[in-house]
This record gives sequence, C-alpha cells and structure tokens, in this order.
Amino acid sequence: MLVQSLGYVGIGASNLDEWSDFATNWLGMQPVDHGNAQRAFRMDDRKQRLVIDRSLSDGERFFGWEVADAAALQTLAAKLEAAGVKVRAEPRALADQRFVTGLISFADPAGNRLEAFHGPMIADAAFKPGRTISGFRTGPLGMGHAVFHVKNIDDLLGFYRDTLGFGVSDYITTPFRAYFMHVNPRHHSLALIETGRQDLHHLMVELYSMDDVGQGYDIALGDPDRIATTLGRHPNDAVMSYYLKTPSGFLMEYGWGGKEVTPGTWQATECTIGPSLWGHDRVWMSAEQRAQARDLRLKAAQNGERMPVQVMQGNFETLTGTCPWWDNVKAGNAD
Ligand SMILES: [Fe+2]
Repeated sequence: MLVQSLGYVGIGASNLDEWSDFATNWLGMQPVDHGNAQRAFRMDDRKQRLVIDRSLSDGERFFGWEVADAAALQTLAAKLEAAGVKVRAEPRALADQRFVTGLISFADPAGNRLEAFHGPMIADAAFKPGRTISGFRTGPLGMGHAVFHVKNIDDLLGFYRDTLGFGVSDYITTPFRAYFMHVNPRHHSLALIETGRQDLHHLMVELYSMDDVGQGYDIALGDPDRIATTLGRHPNDAVMSYYLKTPSGFLMEYGWGGKEVTPGTWQATECTIGPSLWGHDRVWMSAEQRAQARDLRLKAAQNGERMPVQVMQGNFETLTGTCPWWDNVKAGNAD
C-alpha cells in the first residue's frame, strides 16, 4: 500500500503541562524538550510520535501518514492532485519540525489536516518510557489508530478507500455506522464513526503486555472521572482496552492484543456483535444508550461469542492438560 502507517499525530492545545503529566505518567510516553511552543512525546525509536502544539488553536490537529520514500510521496501527491485534492509541498522548516525528510499536506473532505511524509528521524538515545511499561507496539504498524466522528461516512469513504488506498477491514451498522480501515496488518489505523459531529473521537495506542494495560487501569482508577470507557474488549480488532479523557477532551484508547489483517487480500465483512464483546461501559453515553449497549454485550455472551487472544512471541506460555475433553479427543478416546 502507498500509505504505510499512521506515523504521528499533532494536537493543538495550550495546557502543555497537563498533557505532559497525562502522556508521561498515565500513558508511559517519553517527553522530549522542544522549546516553549511544543511538547513532543516518544513511543519508540523515533524522535517523536505525539506532538502537542500551543501555536495551534484547540481543536486544530494534524495526522501524519508515512510512505516508503521520496518517490512514493511524489506518487501520492500526483494521485491526490488527479483526484482534485489540493496538495501543498511543505517547506524544509516544517519538515524539520516534524523530524521527517519530505513532507506534503492536504485535507480530507471533512477538512481534517492530513500530512504525508517519508524519512522519519530516529533518536540517538534509546526510548525511555515515562512509567514502567514493556513498550508500545509500533514499528511497521505505526503509532496506533485514529477514529473520527463524521457527519456522513459516505462523504469520506471514497477519499480514504479509493484515493488514499486504505483497505476496509470491516464495518458496523448498529448502534451507529462505522468503517474500520487498514494500511498495514494493524486491523485499523483509521476508523470513521457516523455520529453527526465532526471531531476526533479517539486515538489508540497499543502496548506489548496485557499487564501494561492492567497496571495503567489501576492508575486510572485513582482518578475514576478520567475513565471514559471501562475495561473491555472489541469484537473486531480483538483489542482489550480502556479509554481515558485526554486533557483536550477527546479520548485515548489504551489497549493490548490487536488482531492483524492481511492487506491486499482481506475481505471486509459486517461485524454484527456490538462495538464491544464485553465491558467498555461508555460513561459518556446517555443512560438509554448505555443500556442498549449492555443488552448487546449480554446477547453476545448469551450466544457464546468468544475470540482467541492475539499474542506474540515472548508474551505467552501454552497451557497443557487443561481440557480433559480435548485431551481425550487427541488420545483417540472420544466416541
Ligand atoms: Fe479504537
């Protein structure tokens, strides 16, 4: 795919100290000193992944999409222009501020500022998390995912799917319409949810260890008003997560165990099991909506819906002898 990952996100906000505390002590990112106007945060070997910029007004944001090299950036710019999208080749000064080699910017049909870049700069020093975590799952999967509130999905779907080349992973139609799109094996790097609003709904970062999420949840329980969505699990990307209110009002999903898709051959289907398999009580929804979502989860449980955990080398051990019925089948003793 031409676009390879969500490389970085920038947020316009003036409460830099509040953001520093949040990103460092709650999320485990590493603060980087970039002067008075900005706070930047590392999640891995890159110089920055999350940028909080007080020279931008609250609500102004930018989303940096990574491509392979200068030729790919040129191809993407040509593709956008052919589709009637205005593309700006950004000057060296802004590319330096983003710590990338080449940079263009454009807008999606809802007016969200998107950037595309190649050649991210790598930090000299190793990543040092802000609190004790095993680390963020980034690399070729990018920094996580972004989810936008949109007025009408049909206004944006063509742009992301056909012009930018994102693949649809799956979609839901109730209790609201949502489309989940991938640009690499991460189940979705972008999702659009049709809520009638236009805003950033949430960003998601993924941790290596389930315990990173559990321990983060313990910290969050110390200030329960900060928890926007309780611990739970999504049925489509298999992520177990909770959501926090960020200092800018949108949400941050803190998750583990994301499922991978196969770009190029993946077939999108409708996901009919609510937005959550269990948990994820959304305290920001109305009592009626919360009751409806709970009914959906109870129905999924009643129907015996289950998903395997998604693990990687080093974070699991295989159990043996825990299923007498299956052991019996394997031994050839079943009826
Ligand atoms: Fe999410």
